[in-house]
Amino acid sequence: MSSKDDSVAAFEEYRRLVEGAELSPEALPGEAFFDESAEREVDAGNAAAVRKPLDINDLQDARAAQDAAERAPLPIGVLLSGSGTNLQALIDAIGAGTLNAQIKLVVASRPSAYGLKRAEAAGIQTLTLSKDVYADPIQADEVIAHELLAAGCEYVVMAGYMRMVHAPLLATFPNRVINIHPALLPSFTGAHGIQDAFDRGVKVTGVTVHIANAAYDMGPIIAQRSLAVEEGWDVETLEEHIHAIEHVLYPDVVQLLADGRVHVRKDLKVEVRPRG
Ligand code: GRF
Repeated sequence: MSSKDDSVAAFEEYRRLVEGAELSPEALPGEAFFDESAEREVDAGNAAAVRKPLDINDLQDARAAQDAAERAPLPIGVLLSGSGTNLQALIDAIGAGTLNAQIKLVVASRPSAYGLKRAEAAGIQTLTLSKDVYADPIQADEVIAHELLAAGCEYVVMAGYMRMVHAPLLATFPNRVINIHPALLPSFTGAHGIQDAFDRGVKVTGVTVHIANAAYDMGPIIAQRSLAVEEGWDVETLEEHIHAIEHVLYPDVVQLLADGRVHVRKDLKVEVRPRG
């Protein structure tokens, strides 16, 4: 089989997984995700007929083409539900000048999320959504997508956001929503990645940053860091090591985006391009 056949087969397998995911039809981004005809219409010069949000690759290429010194801070929104240590790592990296980004908006799915306090302390605009708003998750995501756009965000960074993201967000920011997961995907998906890996007795685990899509924890992988689990560690020790990795890896990945180095291939694998 040629490498082209390989990549078509991989893509078909991936599509099958995404479409086979147990999600309600509204949760799937559907056309915006897989409809290649939309692209063809644009190609045919009929752009007005298709309101397609900007493609990540076009945005990334445009940044890569700029001189590093001239690149504006990457405008991002952060979604969180809890303590927000990953948000803090992003805030600190921006403050230290190692991350060329600007956090335009922090959205919390819980008014009690401590991450909100961190955002406020850093002078970042926040939006809190109550349980009532999430009673209709699709509408909630419409509100979030609208507010992120209004705040000028180009990328959405999920940092301990304990909700699924749905079509309105995914289609508004196609391939531009990223998530951090405290295990080496595709192993130990779900909300308890650290505990599940620990309980299984793995000798190696780690952290994954991936693009979010309709299949929970299944989106294209941008970066991973592994960690050897040492004899005698309890789950708390493992947790500490995982979080320490997250706090370095997440700012690093956002900086890759700020440098325009991330390219999503047709087969939905992510290529990290060399520094320009
Ligand atoms: C992190 O472990 C992240 O991997 C997971 O949720 C946790 C969030 O922690 N998705 P924090 O709120 O950033 O401290």
